[in-house]
Amino acid sequence: MALIEIKHLKKYFNTAGGTLHAVDDVTLSIEKSKTLGVVGESGCGKSTLGRTIIHLTPPTAGEILYNGENITNQSPKAFKKLRVGMQMIFQDPYASLDPRMSVFQLIAEPIQTYKMAGSRQALERRVGELMDTVGIAARLKNSYPHELDGGRRQRIGIARALSVNPDFIVCDEPVSALDVSIQAQVLNLLQDLQEERKLTYMFITHDMSVVKHISDEICVMYLGQVVEKCASRELFKKPLHPYSQALLSAIPVPNIHIEKKKIEMKGELTSPIDPKPCCRFAPRCPYAGPVCFEQQPELKCCGNEHYVMCHQVKENSES
Ligand SMILES: Nc1ncnc2c1ncn2[C@@H]1O[C@H](COP(=O)(O)OP(=O)(O)O)[C@@H](O)[C@H]1O
Ligand SMILES: [Mg+2]
Repeated sequence: MALIEIKHLKKYFNTAGGTLHAVDDVTLSIEKSKTLGVVGESGCGKSTLGRTIIHLTPPTAGEILYNGENITNQSPKAFKKLRVGMQMIFQDPYASLDPRMSVFQLIAEPIQTYKMAGSRQALERRVGELMDTVGIAARLKNSYPHELDGGRRQRIGIARALSVNPDFIVCDEPVSALDVSIQAQVLNLLQDLQEERKLTYMFITHDMSVVKHISDEICVMYLGQVVEKCASRELFKKPLHPYSQALLSAIPVPNIHIEKKKIEMKGELTSPIDPKPCCRFAPRCPYAGPVCFEQQPELKCCGNEHYVMCHQVKENSES
């Protein structure tokens, strides 16, 4: 069963230059205890999508369902109850942690805000358990974020998200700011936690190699739209959208004996402000024909729960 379903979700921003379509008609669902990877270049709307789903910002249009219940227009007060179920882990743990608070205070804060510990003793015990769960040594209880490395700071972010026992977590580039050596440790922690606690993740990243192992399903975003959606295995085996093919071809191959052809994308990312009703990837696409510049493609199913938004996809999928 789906824990999260979103239907035709839009989030527009009014800017001096016009209406910016940050998220433009996105429909997707995330099964309980599974991970949906969301990939795409910087600025394609990944964070806005995650923030809108968990009500950090209101949608312009569309519906958000949580456990089958439509929560789109919940008042902030009614949403406070749901907030404990839906949490977010941010890219830059340093920017998202108050530098004046100690490790203990940072992890205790959400528990206190939602009154989830009855006494000081219970609070101390709960924070101790959480530190243990995310692998921060008890002796660091009174340390401050600037005294810790990036991996430990992200572990605090994870402990804060877990502290209120959520079932859904939006992980927004949680390892992008970390050294490669530490990335794997944090990813393993997230996977262990998912298994133990049956967590449902939306895992946002611009890095295809990170998303491969952690995701059950993947959405590829381009300028506010989901242009391809399928099982992770399927995407890495048979990417259909020219943009996904280009992203995948850009992953470095560790084996120097395998030659890999990098698909070049032409031109620049077009603007998400007042986009024309045509394929948004067309100006950069090596396969684009006239129809691509004239008509918005539909997200169509090509079998195997594999969805793609491309006028040329038949030709490409057979090649
Ligand atoms: N509060 C805001 N006001 C105006 N534009 C915004 C705001 N937040 C995000 N955007 C714009 O929305 C688009 C998507 O941004 P974002 O969701 O942060 O992308 P990503 O996370 O994929 O890098 C970008 O063009 C960004 O400039
Ligand atoms: Mg982002």
